[in-house]
Amino acid sequence: MKFFADTSDVNDIRDLESTGLLDGVTTNPSLIAKSGREFIPLIEEICGIVKGPVSAEVASTDYDIMLKEGQKLAGIAKNIAVKVPLTEAGLKVCKVLSDKGTMVNVTLCFSPGQAILAAKAGATFISPFVGRLDDICHDGMELIADIVDIYGNYDFNTEVLVASVRSPSHIIDSARLGADVVTCPPDVIRKLYKHPLTDKGLAAFVEDWRQTGQSIL
Ligand code: G3P
Repeated sequence: MKFFADTSDVNDIRDLESTGLLDGVTTNPSLIAKSGREFIPLIEEICGIVKGPVSAEVASTDYDIMLKEGQKLAGIAKNIAVKVPLTEAGLKVCKVLSDKGTMVNVTLCFSPGQAILAAKAGATFISPFVGRLDDICHDGMELIADIVDIYGNYDFNTEVLVASVRSPSHIIDSARLGADVVTCPPDVIRKLYKHPLTDKGLAAFVEDWRQTGQSIL
């Protein structure tokens, strides 16, 4: 399972990159706005920090402008994945860019039907938003299960990239279902390390070792 950081905070990205566990980064217009930084230089910096795919989203909803934006973003670095919304125009752009070998991440997916269209359009990644479905009392994980099952019936090359992740449970449930990627806020990834029994057991090891008065070095 690949872990992507869902953030535009370069300090968090550097921190996670240093763990060796980070496989990529996803951004979106809201995360860019939150960073307060200029879009293109920020994406250039992120592409220099991680080797894996960095998703940068188009801003327009018009096909012609979206295509021009996507071509500009793709030119930033080899590891750019152009993010497009799951609309008719977005999937037309996806088809054109993916046919030319550009990675495309199709975002704002909320149904299996949308996911089928994205795969047929040659998407590199499909981003179903589990948290936002949970927010309206739908079962986000049911969508992931449906997409993984449906994709398994065909030779689609699209990876299921679980997005709108809100908790470690989303990560674990996605892994149980065989999703390819989870993109998470950095703190959700960090929560995976934590367990009270690990902390308690380590404290006991440290104290018992201290009692020996020995040193390894
Ligand atoms: O990548 C999509 C993600 O940023 C959306 O998350 O929590 O705003 O639904 P959220």
